[in-house]
Amino acid sequence: MTTRPGPFDRADFPFALRLVTEAAAVAAHRWVGRSRKEDGDGAAVEAMRKALSEININAVVMIGEGEKDHAPLLYRGERIGQGEPEIEIAVDPIEGTTNMANGVDNSMAVMALAPRGAMFDLGPSFYMDKLVLPPPAKGKVDPTWPVKKKLEALAAALNKPVSELRIFVLNRKRHHAMIAEIHAAGARTVLQENGDVAGAFMAVQKGSTVDALFGTGGSPEGIITAIFVRAMGGEFFGRVDPQGDEEAQKVKAFGLDSGKWMSGTELVKSDDAVFVATGINSGPVCRGIAIEKNTAYTHSVILMAKNGARYDISSRFPIA
Ligand code: FBP
Repeated sequence: MTTRPGPFDRADFPFALRLVTEAAAVAAHRWVGRSRKEDGDGAAVEAMRKALSEININAVVMIGEGEKDHAPLLYRGERIGQGEPEIEIAVDPIEGTTNMANGVDNSMAVMALAPRGAMFDLGPSFYMDKLVLPPPAKGKVDPTWPVKKKLEALAAALNKPVSELRIFVLNRKRHHAMIAEIHAAGARTVLQENGDVAGAFMAVQKGSTVDALFGTGGSPEGIITAIFVRAMGGEFFGRVDPQGDEEAQKVKAFGLDSGKWMSGTELVKSDDAVFVATGINSGPVCRGIAIEKNTAYTHSVILMAKNGARYDISSRFPIA
């Protein structure tokens, strides 16, 4: 039996995808540093949706801006294109919306794609507890272990003392006890207010100032992270971690178990997965966008889970 080639077999496919994150970044740029999160997010969502419909794909949004009742566009289950979906998408039109609105470093338009049936359906889950490990620690740290044991195993894998470990954690009240445990074990934290996608990227990137990521952030960011972590040879674990009763009830009713850690390969079953990002404000993944007169200068990064290929695309194109 021969299988009909799908979009992931097209050599040009990953490159077309960056048109989508480029469009979102261009739309967001107008709102950088204006303290108007919603306006910036709305513009990026609309631009991303429009660009997706222009690149000729049949896809379904698996996780993105929320459930249909709350998100008018890029909601879970939304179909892109006319035909039967061949592709599943996870979107985050602005990762780092607060940073974008505040006009500070680290915001980008991001998206990840995988073949139909590959992405675990996280349903109404909004928050996910994450463990991101660099390549040398792959297979050596169990997410269910206590913090101290995880740090000791990580230190052994990286061949450095626990006291030299730097763990990226979002600076949130929900993490205070874990932060105290990290410090009690002798390790350091890298506390950031926003942007755990960039935190995860640093955790797997050789030579960065972060050795691992611990803690809870967004679920769409989790699926997206699982894909680029695989491309970069690291290891991802995620566990739905509802914040508040309403999310807990919804997640339970959907059949998800918040006690269960899932591996990156359970969350995204195919290697044919692609991550793409375009910078809005410069950060660890991409340079920020610049617009001069009617010309946009963008930097996009494409990562392929299949073979670890990375493509950096600097574009210069006219905008209306
Ligand atoms: P947004 O730009 O989508 O708001 O995400 C920023 C972020 O910091 C993510 O990196 C992280 O996963 C999530 O928010 C954490 O959510 P919360 O700010 O509610 O703790």
